Amino acid sequence: MFYNNLKNGFNMLINRPRILRQSPAIRAMVAETHLSAEQLIAPLFIVEGEGIEEQIPSLPGYYRRSLDLTLKEAELLFSIGIRSVLLFVKSKDEYKDNLGTEALNENGLMQRSIRAIKGAVPQLCVMTDVALDPFSSFGHDGIVKGEEIVNDETVAVLAKMAVSHAKAGADFVAPSDMMDGRIAAIRKALEEDQLHNIGIMAYSAKYASCFYGPFRDALDSAPGFGDKKTYQMNPANRLEAIREAKLDVAEGADIIMVKPALSYLDIIREVKNDVLVPVSAYHVSGEYAMIKAAAQKGWLNEDAAILETTLSIKRAGANLIATYFAKDIIRLLS
Ligand code: PBG
Repeated sequence: MFYNNLKNGFNMLINRPRILRQSPAIRAMVAETHLSAEQLIAPLFIVEGEGIEEQIPSLPGYYRRSLDLTLKEAELLFSIGIRSVLLFVKSKDEYKDNLGTEALNENGLMQRSIRAIKGAVPQLCVMTDVALDPFSSFGHDGIVKGEEIVNDETVAVLAKMAVSHAKAGADFVAPSDMMDGRIAAIRKALEEDQLHNIGIMAYSAKYASCFYGPFRDALDSAPGFGDKKTYQMNPANRLEAIREAKLDVAEGADIIMVKPALSYLDIIREVKNDVLVPVSAYHVSGEYAMIKAAAQKGWLNEDAAILETTLSIKRAGANLIATYFAKDIIRLLS
């Protein structure tokens, strides 16, 4: 069926897809997916102190930095084309409690970091993690009562937390907690405080994943008891992701996120087809660590693996990608 019998009797192959692969020029001309710096979001881990730059053991090549050095990093990132950073802070143990009180501290590390980064690099889009886990004595994303992570009381704190980030100068707040109704509550709280221009990037389909392990090492934020399965999603589920994404859009999310990325490429695509807002994907810490570890052993070509995996996330439908490889990708693109 691939050959047409022409009247002169010759068999002729009329479909030759390899024509479009035969030279770099042609391959580039017909490439369907492109990576570029402005679609990347660089996560930053910030710690108290000065002059600190410590490598995170389970995230080789990635660092926790004090604010002074974070500012240098933010300037560097902007100078190479990165337009957006996502901030996480490592809170001191003595500041942690069940209510995540430190999360609302106007002079807390997060709020000081937002102000300083926006002061140093005003054009950089600053996004902030909104969830209680770095500030929770239980390491949970919400308030704990008995064995339960209570929803509505947590949402009330998250809305205040988002407002405090916005007042400090954040461009986007990024709720990563997976409580029900938090996008609506955050939107309402922002409106009530006249914070009309603050974006919400909702972690809408965030799965209860083993691939967050290195991140929890980075922030010392692993849950003290139980797991996060009563709020993060079951990896078995697909329709639920679409439901969550649509709810968040209806509640006022500007960007929605799927997380992790690589094991959930199908979800990125389905959500992309179902919502009319930009979709981001978080190429998470464990996914980074897997590539790093295999590369260190000489089992994978690191640069090739970085480009291929990131491209696959883009191809799946992600408009934006939060990735620890942001600097590597820019190096590889130039
Ligand atoms: C906290 C949060 C987590 C990540 C981003 N925000 C961890 C978690 O939910 O336990 C994971 C990021 C990564 O693994 O790179 N709510």
